[in-house]
Amino acid sequence: MKKDTIILGIETSCDETAVAIVKNGTTIISNVVASQIESHKRFGGVVPEIASRHHVEQMTVVLEEAFAQAELVWEDIDAIAVTEGPGLVGALLIGVNTAKALAFAKQKPLVGVHHIAGHIYANRLEKEFQFPLLALIVSGGHTELVLMQEHGSYEVIGETRDDAAGEAYDKVARMLRLPYPGGPQIDRLAVEGEANINFPRAWLEEGSYDFSFSGLKSSVINTIHNASQRGEELKNQDIAASFQASVVDVLVTKTLRAAKEYQVKQVIVAGGVAANSGLRNSLEEAFEETEIPLLIPPLKLCTDNAAMIAAAGTIAYEQGKRAGWDLNANPSLILE
Ligand code: KG4
Ligand code: ZN
Repeated sequence: MKKDTIILGIETSCDETAVAIVKNGTTIISNVVASQIESHKRFGGVVPEIASRHHVEQMTVVLEEAFAQAELVWEDIDAIAVTEGPGLVGALLIGVNTAKALAFAKQKPLVGVHHIAGHIYANRLEKEFQFPLLALIVSGGHTELVLMQEHGSYEVIGETRDDAAGEAYDKVARMLRLPYPGGPQIDRLAVEGEANINFPRAWLEEGSYDFSFSGLKSSVINTIHNASQRGEELKNQDIAASFQASVVDVLVTKTLRAAKEYQVKQVIVAGGVAANSGLRNSLEEAFEETEIPLLIPPLKLCTDNAAMIAAAGTIAYEQGKRAGWDLNANPSLILE
């Protein structure tokens, strides 16, 4: 009988210090996340230097908690997987150096993981992948459509040309003076409002799977300014609902079209914006009419965590990929 593969995952690319232990890339044994949201809230966004300091303070505690919850010891661990990029360089460095120090001290193989590969593999903790597979990645830093023909292979067929979807949510939330992170706030307001403002949809050239959200963001600013100059008061709920309708319309339409064109056997959604209720509902509705199974991870696996890094790291480990002692944080690491 094949022995189980037990991988320790470490994630520190942004404002979550996370350590997890995952079995065979599919089963979470422990998954500990220390969020820094409260610290960054008063600045309206993540302050990189503060993020790094919190990672240093939290890392040992989170690591010990991950072992305690798993009831495992170092002898049980086959390899250490760590996010090497993209992300904030100072934040990434804490995870990478922790992983290197542990791998050296405990004599364990070391695997570098792309943060977005992690978000994709969060879905495998719920259900086995079927290829070809299409992944829609929507986070604070990314908006991509990725085609996968097999495990560990990634082809970016579309990406944002300016702002990421989550970034657009956060910027619009700031305009409405909502607290950080803005995505969940807009989502909450959108449910109470009506999509009665016709914001633009950036479809781009015929056939393109790329995205663009900066025009939408400007349109929201202009609409708010123009209304206030006329002495009119727009309802935040309606702005949120109309903005969300525009984002969701483009994301869902392009994902559906790509899924059909590439005849994929599965569509998965990944990243923080996958938590968005409007996006989840529209995707479910759109794919219900097709034969293509749609997988959206549960909320706690949508946002940054280390179980997803361990899950993606398991595949890299099984494929024989190893990082050397020169592994470094790479803030602009590419996926393909
Ligand atoms: O994946 P993630 O946790 O971190 C990155 O790797 O970027 O994504 C964070 C992003 C933020 O922009 C946040 O506002 C957005 O995901 N987000 C949401 C929702 N929950 C989180 N956006 C829209 N609706 C939500 N419910
Ligand atoms: Zn992320």
